[in-house]
Amino acid sequence: MFKTRITEMFDLKYPLIQGGMLWLSRAELVAAVSNAGGLGILSAATFLTREEFQKELKRVKTLTAKPFGVNIPLFPALKPLDIQGYIEAMGEEGVTVVETAGRNPAEYMPLFRERGIKVMHKVTAVRFAKKAQEIGCHAVVVDGFECAGHPGEEDVSSTVLLPAAVDAVDIPVVAAGGFADGRGLVAALALGAEGVLMGTRFMMSREAPMSDNLKEYLTTLTERDTMFVLRSLRNTARVIKNDVARKVAAMEGEGATIGDLIPLVTGSREKEVMETGDISRGLLHCGQAIGLIRDFPPAAEIMEEIMAEAAGAVARLSRSGKTP
Ligand SMILES: Cc1cc2nc3c(=O)[nH]c(=O)nc-3n(C[C@H](O)[C@H](O)[C@H](O)COP(=O)(O)O)c2cc1C
Repeated sequence: MFKTRITEMFDLKYPLIQGGMLWLSRAELVAAVSNAGGLGILSAATFLTREEFQKELKRVKTLTAKPFGVNIPLFPALKPLDIQGYIEAMGEEGVTVVETAGRNPAEYMPLFRERGIKVMHKVTAVRFAKKAQEIGCHAVVVDGFECAGHPGEEDVSSTVLLPAAVDAVDIPVVAAGGFADGRGLVAALALGAEGVLMGTRFMMSREAPMSDNLKEYLTTLTERDTMFVLRSLRNTARVIKNDVARKVAAMEGEGATIGDLIPLVTGSREKEVMETGDISRGLLHCGQAIGLIRDFPPAAEIMEEIMAEAAGAVARLSRSGKTP
């Protein structure tokens, strides 16, 4: 059920993709998603050197023989990443899919092409989707306003952004931002997507290396418990509403510079939050879909449940479409 151009392109059983997540998308989670029939995506930026990254790629390969991808963020970084090194390592380890994000990957396209790596670029606006198609990307992920991480600056929700992008490009479009269950999958497919990429739902999986206490706390939150930070720097991020996020937003209101904000927003604090489970230590990227999530089972169970719920939703819709 639900064969699409994305399931064909990446050789998947299900049209489900786990989005790259800094600190969380490590070998165990990636392999669990791929083994269960979706596409797991390793976060390259979690590994600061090419050597560490390549070691993790080898680890994924010991855990799954299924296809998996790598996320390479091209956002402005304080410490430049060894993008070329990551790509060379991917080539050596036979990785065939990359998820790029943050900025147009045009300058890296020849390196991907030479290695036969398919490029799925994540965008937050229709014009960026068109650009991705123009430079030869194989698919686009459209990240709506609801998403964890960086939704862009234009605040268009998935229900509008997704079909607008589907109408604008011929390459397959993957829906992201606000999808966490089978109803969402069916809705995304109805809007023209050929797959769904989820971050927040997979952050709430057993294999995501984050404290169980924190996951437990997150099951109690609602769709109202996230907020934006860093809008003043045009680098908006959706995070859990906590004291650190409120402080960052207040400082931005008073004209804080990136230098003023770094001590609060630095990624190492998020790592500390994840490891200790103490949400007061920093920011935590999270989507509005957290309000739909009440548990953190193994990734395979999440995926089976989504597929069963989606089949149920389709059956319900087809029954209601028939005249009695
Ligand atoms: C904790 C966390 C960390 C993330 N880190 C990254 C990242 O490093 N690179 C990236 O492109 N997207 C990152 N994302 C965004 C996801 O890949 C995905 O685009 C987004 O979560 C989709 O929206 P959803 O959360 O509503 O499913 C992150 C998301 C979460 C929850």
